[in-house]
Amino acid sequence: MSLEKEHLFYDRLAQTTDSPYGLHLEKAEGSHVWDVTGKKYLDFVAGIAVANVGHRHPKLVRAIEDQLNKYLHTMVYGEYIQDVQVSLADKLTQILPPHLNCTYLVNSGTEANEAALKLAKRHTGRTRLLSFRKSYHGSTHGSLSVSGNEEKKYAFRPLLPEVQFMEFNKIKDLNLIDTSVAAVIIEVIQGDAGVRIADQSFMTELRKKCDESGALLIMDEIQSGMGRTGKMFSFEHYGIFPDILTLAKGFGGGLPIGAMIANKSVMGDFTHKPPLGHITTFGGNPLSCAAAGAVIDILHSEKLCDKAIEKGELFKSLLSHPKIKAIRQIGLMIAVDLENESELCRLIDYCKENGVIIYRFLSHPYSFRISPPLNIDDEDIRSGVKIILEGLEQC
Ligand SMILES: Cc1ncc(COP(=O)(O)O)c(C=O)c1O
Repeated sequence: MSLEKEHLFYDRLAQTTDSPYGLHLEKAEGSHVWDVTGKKYLDFVAGIAVANVGHRHPKLVRAIEDQLNKYLHTMVYGEYIQDVQVSLADKLTQILPPHLNCTYLVNSGTEANEAALKLAKRHTGRTRLLSFRKSYHGSTHGSLSVSGNEEKKYAFRPLLPEVQFMEFNKIKDLNLIDTSVAAVIIEVIQGDAGVRIADQSFMTELRKKCDESGALLIMDEIQSGMGRTGKMFSFEHYGIFPDILTLAKGFGGGLPIGAMIANKSVMGDFTHKPPLGHITTFGGNPLSCAAAGAVIDILHSEKLCDKAIEKGELFKSLLSHPKIKAIRQIGLMIAVDLENESELCRLIDYCKENGVIIYRFLSHPYSFRISPPLNIDDEDIRSGVKIILEGLEQC
């Protein structure tokens, strides 16, 4: 039965690589997942920074169940007044700076960025878009256009015109920002580039240049948001705020949801010239909204931002081995550089065999990521890192 399913997985489901991770999943709870043979794995990846509150947190499950008993999809986004959506938007307003007071709910990260790029063009009446090399903003045409990894893009050209790239953390490059630019999009912490952390002086200058030119600053916190870096949003480390914020991944705690948040006066442009300037059938799905509301509550009540800082430090202190060339870490967003890609492949396999899940990055070939649930136990951190260090010895 199990082998038949595995065969069907390769045969009937579209594959995105020739070597998928291939764990045959049975269930997930807290910081662990189990395969169909009953083998238990410690999850140091959390579905790529999604299960920030852990898999199937009881409060999350209860919120979803409560909503399940009321209604599922009833109407396209924006027409009916659905309390679960309204409460979520209101909760976001309470945890964001006052100017970020209006939320457009979508289904994923790339959709949030698509909406943000469109809104910036519509609001400014400008067409140029600026982004940063090595960034990742999603896989649909608009988001891919502003993503900075050429290897992932060349086969899909032509993409959006008038997109230019700057070097991350290079202040001189910010001179490209002028009055023809609709928006600059940035991951404050570049996730799939292997956790590249923006400098304070760079962020200050970026905000200044956008203010001077009227270009809107879009911060993509799809991976770095929802407590992952030790603050609810990573821009809080800098005291620099976006004009438009995008969220997804950990926002839904395991259900698909994204958000694009801006000032009401900017967001209002989607209502006219043309009306219905952005449309989604499933955006703001009631179950996903219930989950996202619960995620915000859990992050607060269990002080998971503080925990992300403490546990991130613990990981960093334990990850010491001659084969580790560098560690970039902020909260529980961690990249560990090895010598080369084949060493990395062997380590990922070793950890899998020994019940620990670590994973690669999209745009950084010889590094592995650690992005576990923010409420992972310290004992699990110690035992999982022990396996990683053993693996480094063996590989
Ligand atoms: C920073 C960032 N932006 C956008 C996305 C795209 O999100 P999604 O896969 O939900 O479309 C991702 C996904 O990894 C991401 O890390």
